[in-house]
Amino acid sequence: MNEMKIPEHIAIIMDGNGRWAKKLGFNRIFGHKNGIKAVRETVEICGEIGVKYLTLYAFSVENWNRPLDEIEALMLLLVEAVVKETPELNSNNVQLRAIGNLSTFPENVMVKLNQAIEFTSKNTGLVLTLALSYGSRWEITEAVKKIAAKAAAGEIEPESINENVIEQYLTTHGMPDPELIIRTSGEQRLSNFLLWQGAYSEFYFPAILWPDFRKNDLLEAIDEYRKRERRFGKTGEQIKQEKDLI
Ligand code: IPE
Ligand code: IPE
Ligand code: MG
Repeated sequence: MNEMKIPEHIAIIMDGNGRWAKKLGFNRIFGHKNGIKAVRETVEICGEIGVKYLTLYAFSVENWNRPLDEIEALMLLLVEAVVKETPELNSNNVQLRAIGNLSTFPENVMVKLNQAIEFTSKNTGLVLTLALSYGSRWEITEAVKKIAAKAAAGEIEPESINENVIEQYLTTHGMPDPELIIRTSGEQRLSNFLLWQGAYSEFYFPAILWPDFRKNDLLEAIDEYRKRERRFGKTGEQIKQEKDLI
């Protein structure tokens, strides 16, 4: 594969676990359990082809409104998966991170998660970021609060606030924006994911349900991405001219 056209940052909304389980006559939690294999495969293939950042939407701010038994099962699964997968992640040089309103997470989950984050923090390969209790509106609100406090304290001039300043206060600061955002299960919405960072992302909405997602599906998404012309407001002619100059 042409290295130049491999996105540096891919973000995925892992959707469809519940429907996958229901189709097979099981409860929704069975679907979440089976989503872990898809995560493993996705992490592996991203590492293999040289994606630098992979951000996975695992639990949204709004997911706290689900039935309590489903939330509890998801928390348990998260702890189990983090504990089980960390040695493999570490041996593959993956650096684990988490973004979101983590203060809302149960303490036992945070302890295990922080251990895994700390354990892999020196790794220099793929940066795997789990979005947990994440919501873009929450993230932007937090950024505004912090910047407003700085301005009120006289530490920042309101006139000097620009896009770069705002970026520094987002949970993703320092990461490039995702070139490609994938949402499985056929739903075509962002559900409060990376609203700022996705301003110029390419979107890909395969019908496949998350537990069925495999390496080849990720490669297909990248193939589709490579066919897109990213114009960033310019004309198609300008983009062709720029390409001819390279
Ligand atoms: C995505 O699958 C996983 C989470 C949101 C935690 P869903 O649980 O949303 O599955 P569907 O959309 O109901 O099929
Ligand atoms: C979005 O999926 C969040 C995650 C995949 C973690 P949802 O299934 O919660 O989104 P909606 O409610 O269908 O928009
Ligand atoms: Mg869903």
